Amino acid sequence: MPRLRHGATISLDAFQAATESVAARSADVPLAFAAAVPTDVQDFDFLFPALQDDPANLLPTSRATRDNLVKLGRVMRDTGGGPGADSEIPAAYTYFGQFVDHDVTLETTSATADQLVHPDLVPQSLDHIRTTIRNLRTATLDLDSVYGLPAPRNGGRMGVGRVSPLNGTTKPLLRPRGKDDRNDVPREPRNTDLTHDRAALIGDPRNDENTIIAQLQVAFLRAHNTLVGQGRPFREARKLLRQHYQHVVISDFLPRICDPTIVRNIVRRGNRVYDALAEPFFLPLEYAVAAYRFGHSMIRADYDFNLNFNTSGEPGTFPATLGLLFTFTALSGGFDPVPGTGTDTLPENWIIEWERFVDVGKPFNKARRLDPKLVEPLFELRDITGAPEAGDKARLAVRNLLRGYLLRLPTGQAVARALQAKWDNPVLTPAQVAQGAASQEQVQVLTEAGFLDRTPLWYYILAEANVLGQGQHLGPVGSILVAEVLVGLVRRSEDSILRTRNWKPSLPSARPNKFELADLLRLGGVLPERGRRKAAAVEAEG
Ligand code: HEM
Repeated sequence: MPRLRHGATISLDAFQAATESVAARSADVPLAFAAAVPTDVQDFDFLFPALQDDPANLLPTSRATRDNLVKLGRVMRDTGGGPGADSEIPAAYTYFGQFVDHDVTLETTSATADQLVHPDLVPQSLDHIRTTIRNLRTATLDLDSVYGLPAPRNGGRMGVGRVSPLNGTTKPLLRPRGKDDRNDVPREPRNTDLTHDRAALIGDPRNDENTIIAQLQVAFLRAHNTLVGQGRPFREARKLLRQHYQHVVISDFLPRICDPTIVRNIVRRGNRVYDALAEPFFLPLEYAVAAYRFGHSMIRADYDFNLNFNTSGEPGTFPATLGLLFTFTALSGGFDPVPGTGTDTLPENWIIEWERFVDVGKPFNKARRLDPKLVEPLFELRDITGAPEAGDKARLAVRNLLRGYLLRLPTGQAVARALQAKWDNPVLTPAQVAQGAASQEQVQVLTEAGFLDRTPLWYYILAEANVLGQGQHLGPVGSILVAEVLVGLVRRSEDSILRTRNWKPSLPSARPNKFELADLLRLGGVLPERGRRKAAAVEAEG
């Protein structure tokens, strides 16, 4: 599969042609390819279609609105950071969140980045949105990003790539302790055609957008192989991994990023507004274009990544900046820090040490607070060659806001009011929206644009998380949208744990009956076992 960036825009035809080319190629290459069908094309729609009938529920259609969204997006850049900028959520969950996003949604058809930032941008018609905008992922938690083509498969095992040796003897060239060669995603060889040059051979090429998500993909591939190595056939291993992944989403990820009471309520009593089992099935635009983009605020500008790339200040070490984390990926960095110098695969000094990303008793990287602020590198997005995008195309916050306008998202207040029919949730007052803003500059734009009582949905979700979730998790509207959709999708999924009577995790875990992301990483052999003993000891003491 040619490279496809997280947030890239390709036409439906181009996507289908790429899929077919992969299917054709799989017939004449020596590797057996994954049996999973790559994607069904599934629809998006509005969770609250009736809101579209009254223009007061949407942002006004005008050039001024478009310009104000650009202004608001630009002032969402965080230039400060420092203490108080972090949440208590371990940073692994940011990228697990991105991984879940890639398993569930891929919207490439609404507008190219150039069209999106064009000054004459106007919202698309309802009819156009309903007939044209398509989701190119299966919107279920079935790991199509792991098992889908062109992921190579050898018998029951998934192909894993090998890192490139550097044979260095000092930092920053050391391979982290205890790591074997099988720590990269499988890749195509070097190629003068950029779309194939070292491109990841994985079910969703966006999982090679930064090194952390690529390493998470490796963990999933290896976890599958552990299950096969224990004697399970491919299908049984896939089912077990899918189910434990669904359990991690419901019991570990959602309670950390949402209000846990809301998550518990939805899991126990069922969904109130989104029926994922209804036909025709659709994925809510309010979720994909706004609520689930909350994760952009959790991204850090630099990470304590491993013994070479960290924030210790020790001689020979460097912080793992987001820029560096884009470098050794086919999608964002082009792989060569200096043209022609890069390695064929991930260099061994860039294998992740997951114990720095999950809470297993050691200091860990924290995700940033959930608030309307994004770190600076997200205002400097790059293209597939690693070159900077131009103007507002490079500013993720601007793109999110314009995408919401283009796709006629209702305002945050309109969605909050619509949810009140089923949930007893508050609607933010204009004063609370201002309180949730991350700077005085933002308050000024919100006030001048009239956005304090008609707030763009994505911004509302982040301001609500700041005010009502104290920046530690989503507020009520964000939690309801994200948890109802993900729990609903688990219910709809193949091998769903919510449709299997008395399902309980059966794979080894630190806490009884609770299989967490850390356990999945241990299953893949990428997180040391001693973390499990420590977590169990803490549990016993607690
Ligand atoms: C370094 C990490 C990340 C980068 C560089 C990134 C970048 C992007 C870009 C450029 C887009 C397209 C924007 C547009 O033109 O509309 C996008 C879309 C999106 N992002 Fe991210 N993102 C990252 C992490 C995350 C995380 C952590 C989450 C959630 C937890 C997330 C959720 C989404 C969603 C839901 C979409 C829409 C996807 C679709 O429907 O195709 N992203 N991201």
